Amino acid sequence: MQDQFVPSFVWRHPTRVRFGVGSLKTLTSEVAAIVPDGTRVFLVVGRQSLRARGILQPILDSLRDYKVTVYDRVAPFPSPQAVDDATAECRSIEADIVVAIGGGSVMDLAKAVAILAVHEGSALAFAQGEIALVRKGLPFIAAPTTSGSSSEVTSGSALWDMDAKKHYGLGGPLMFPDTAIVDPELMMSMPSSLAAITGMDAFTSAFESYWSIRSQPISDALNLDVIRNFTANLERSTIQGDLESRAACAIASTMSGIAYSQSPPNACHAVGGPLTLFWDVQHGQAVGVTLCGFLERAAPAIRHKLPPLWEAMGVEDLTGATELITRIMRRCGLETTLTGLGLNESDLDTLVDETRWERVGSLPVSMGRDELRVMLAELF
Ligand SMILES: [Fe+2]
Repeated sequence: MQDQFVPSFVWRHPTRVRFGVGSLKTLTSEVAAIVPDGTRVFLVVGRQSLRARGILQPILDSLRDYKVTVYDRVAPFPSPQAVDDATAECRSIEADIVVAIGGGSVMDLAKAVAILAVHEGSALAFAQGEIALVRKGLPFIAAPTTSGSSSEVTSGSALWDMDAKKHYGLGGPLMFPDTAIVDPELMMSMPSSLAAITGMDAFTSAFESYWSIRSQPISDALNLDVIRNFTANLERSTIQGDLESRAACAIASTMSGIAYSQSPPNACHAVGGPLTLFWDVQHGQAVGVTLCGFLERAAPAIRHKLPPLWEAMGVEDLTGATELITRIMRRCGLETTLTGLGLNESDLDTLVDETRWERVGSLPVSMGRDELRVMLAELF
């Protein structure tokens, strides 16, 4: 029989998602629902923006019945050491629950803190696999203020050692957030460059998840809608920044994370890691710059999945798709070449060497060093 056409997969996504304008106002009731007897909240926020925008004080007011410790020392690209420092503070106050309100760095750090607070060992030891995560962490609620990292619904934290040029993934099914509160109002003060960069991260992830050999019908359905949504709204969210387009990108980002929890980002992120570590390229820009190149390689291997993809993008074929992606990126102020990111051809060997090759393996076509080098050379 046609076994090869019958998918075989497991789907599990345990995070409760509350979406809507003003939904952050439900934070207190969400906390109470998860820890009815809890009294101590470890609240992780970005360094300035929530305070500056007057958002933090109403949150603290609404949590007045709790003892809230605000942790706001989160730098972009959190390091394992930063996680250890925050975990020590979280433990010292004997927190009952961890809440993160912020961008990807804030949520990734807080998510790591929530699980490491109930484990013995350093973040680095867990991230390097020397010690395994064996139990669920403190309850964790995440509310994103950007639409692109998707960390509010994913089971991992990206950790970085910018000095040693190393990138770690700490993750596993025990790390899914309990609740994601996605309030588009929180995305309204993103500057346009941040809307573009974070949106490009989730947009790219949806393509990677869709062409992946680990994709399956549920992730495909989600990813097609994510791609449809970003194709229609990323530019508008970046340039106009109105509530409707920001909300559309927020939904798309959350759906992208749910999809890629099962079918993870791969090749673009594999090259994007070293672009960030070695050339300081912002994450969404770093993964987006190779999207068209990898799409051209992957497309022939997923022919049966191309008609719905082109339909979602409103294009006829691969050429139309790459032209549209390039146009959207340029209008959003994103670079579409490695030259534009400050690289020259003498950097190619380093970029190929530092690519996270274990992630390239999820492409539906095999790609070795030579093929990747050729593809990257076309991006100058
Ligand atoms: Fe990403």
